[in-house]
Amino acid sequence: MVRHMADERLTVLGIETSCDETAAAVVDSDGRILANLVLSQLDEHRPYGGVVPEIAARSHLDHIDRLVTEAMAEAARDFASLDGIAVTAGPGLIGGVFVGVMTAKAIALAWDRPFLAINHLEGHALTARLGSDLDFPYLLLLVSGGHCQLLAVEGVGRYRRLGGTIDDAVGEAFDKTAKLLGLGYPGGPAVERQAATGNPEAFNLPRPMLGRPGLDFSFSGLKTAVRHAADAAGLLDNPEGDPQQRADLAAAFQAAVGDILAERCGKALAEFSSRYGRPGPLVVAGGVAANRHLRQRLNAVAQAAKTALIAPPPALCTDNAAMIAWAGVERLRLGLTDPLDFAARPRWPLEDLSAAPRPAATG
Ligand code: KG4
Ligand code: ZN
Repeated sequence: MVRHMADERLTVLGIETSCDETAAAVVDSDGRILANLVLSQLDEHRPYGGVVPEIAARSHLDHIDRLVTEAMAEAARDFASLDGIAVTAGPGLIGGVFVGVMTAKAIALAWDRPFLAINHLEGHALTARLGSDLDFPYLLLLVSGGHCQLLAVEGVGRYRRLGGTIDDAVGEAFDKTAKLLGLGYPGGPAVERQAATGNPEAFNLPRPMLGRPGLDFSFSGLKTAVRHAADAAGLLDNPEGDPQQRADLAAAFQAAVGDILAERCGKALAEFSSRYGRPGPLVVAGGVAANRHLRQRLNAVAQAAKTALIAPPPALCTDNAAMIAWAGVERLRLGLTDPLDFAARPRWPLEDLSAAPRPAATG
């Protein structure tokens, strides 16, 4: 039977293995992060220029048990004292997701603790509430390696999609731009570093969808334009290319992304305001939210709309398990636990959560 948990302090173990970070964290319902360990697999994937699913799954398998043990030790908790085990159950690379889900189910079963199957995107979406008094509803710009969406977050498990990319995700555009410019993997931080010394006006890049009705995004045309510009400037796959031009192109790309995100978020804030009676706040989440230039641009947009930009610290924007543990806390408080036969889902849109039947919390 599900206990009424709204007023108790809850402690949840979170596990994240859906992409190329093996992560374990312990978080409590006061928003305290008792442990937050992230083991990056970057070095294993770098030779291939991107994440190789089978290598990722094997690496998660090699490290997850140790990481969970270390997180529990750092948090000074034993399994028996946990109120729940939360794990990313999708969307993501299914081999890695299985590793995390099997680990979490085993702990939940062995210690008779509630099991929480967390949608990775919901983890990103709720992170801004970790350690803050942010209330629902808010406007969320979710920008990661696989996603670019504008959502109205009405509550835990309640997401209304306002717009999204019709082709590439923003993070993907950063990663591809980095690859074209020979900046290696992962692309986002490398492009941001280059852009810091570049002149964004030196290249004239398109801003797809800008000024168009609706709230959708498109980045593939921008990516193609970067390829042509890089080719014309002799930068394409050429480590010997002019470093200043490379920095300029990175800056021009980042500025174009900033213009697109700023315009769409400005429009979304207006739409949000007319639906919910207040202009925001605007929350940005996902790996790309770690980018300082984009944070500045979004901050200006929020201010112009007389609201605030709320952006989690960069370490909580990129993939981590604290966000999964926190989503677990949020769900546990509402009695939304999952059965141990919950099947991992490689594809799992956030809107599906809104449609799912919600188990009633009983006293
Ligand atoms: O959320 P995340 O860690 O993993 C996914 O769920 O996809 O996001 C990873 C993405 C990658 O595409 C990475 O290049 C991008 O976030 N990223 C950045 C920055 N840091 C990470 N993009 C732009 N600027 C950054 N500083
Ligand atoms: Zn993510």
